[in-house]
Amino acid sequence: MKFEIALNVHWVGKIDWELRKFHGEEYSTHRGSSYNSFLVKDEKVALIDTVWLPFAKEFVDNLAGEIDLNKIDFVIANHAEMDHSGALPELMRRIPDKPVYCTANGVKSLKGHYHQDWNFQVVKTGDKLSLGKKELVFIEAPMLHWPDTMIEYLTGDAILFSNDAFGQHIASEHMFNDLVVQSELFDEAIKYYANILTPFSLMVTRKINEVVALNLPVNAICPSHGVIWRDNPLQIAHKYLEWAADYQENQITIIYDTMWNGTRKLAESIAKGIKEKDDAVTVKLYNISRSDINDVVTEVFKSKAILLGSPTINKGILCAMASLIDMVTGLKFKNKKAAAFGCYGWSGESVKILSEHLTKAGFELVNDGLKAMWQPGDAEMTQAFEYGKEMAGKL
Ligand code: FEO
Repeated sequence: MKFEIALNVHWVGKIDWELRKFHGEEYSTHRGSSYNSFLVKDEKVALIDTVWLPFAKEFVDNLAGEIDLNKIDFVIANHAEMDHSGALPELMRRIPDKPVYCTANGVKSLKGHYHQDWNFQVVKTGDKLSLGKKELVFIEAPMLHWPDTMIEYLTGDAILFSNDAFGQHIASEHMFNDLVVQSELFDEAIKYYANILTPFSLMVTRKINEVVALNLPVNAICPSHGVIWRDNPLQIAHKYLEWAADYQENQITIIYDTMWNGTRKLAESIAKGIKEKDDAVTVKLYNISRSDINDVVTEVFKSKAILLGSPTINKGILCAMASLIDMVTGLKFKNKKAAAFGCYGWSGESVKILSEHLTKAGFELVNDGLKAMWQPGDAEMTQAFEYGKEMAGKL
């Protein structure tokens, strides 16, 4: 399968309809994904990125059906992560002398992954590669989201090849942004940002402003996953600027785990209290051990405050909650408030532990938390309700 993006610019990647987990088991991809590769033909021919390793042979065979591989003049490796570089060994086995254009860090990563000494050509921001009438202009984009990442701009067609930035994990037979369900597109785009790019928000803002300042026309943005932004392509860049600016909505998310439903009851009573005080705020509840962790992280991203609840077990917290905290800590969310709650039977450390983790993760603690011994009775449920009201008043 291939399709045209502009005259002599074609998508030649792979749509992965089956993918349900990405980055090992770390990231859920409910809607599959795609590994986008682009073939740009002018007097010279450039191939931009490849696909994930399991599809390497299929990809290169298909590519060979589109073009004599020896007619590819330049191989562009924007990013060494294996979902984009995985077919390079198979491709370079067939055209071993062709130059591979990447950043200096790209050489390190590609050599680290494949232990091959390909004909690497290191490029830096501002370097240009003439294809004939058109040029590829390279822009290094370190930490968007790896040190090696780069993007490029194709003059003439005014296409920005943005690699992971602006991507979404979507498999679709409609590979343009104006052809897919908009709510699904933006759900996946924000999930992608929340789970992958949040820690690099400063770099996101800096790089987008740098590219915008060049005042170049942009007819399309081609990320390396999901659909191509051709209808109002800069809308996703503007969304990224919004998301990178310590994004939050008027939402409070309550995330808990529970053994015998005591902590769940507290969560629901706190939610009622919040709504009693502030009916405009969106309150969402998730049992973390029964929810998709990446979807919950996306809700954390959208929240102005979160409440974490766990009963005490073995002087600690339940393991699904520990896993969430680890993920949230790594993502370095900013400008969010938080508090903790939980049931206990005797030692009762969970609320203190949760509070400490939240502080370490960069959340501003609103209070010392709410504890309830054994199963919450009427008094504890009222206390949780009032606690919710008090929280809402402080947010
Ligand atoms: Fe889509 Fe960072 O690889």
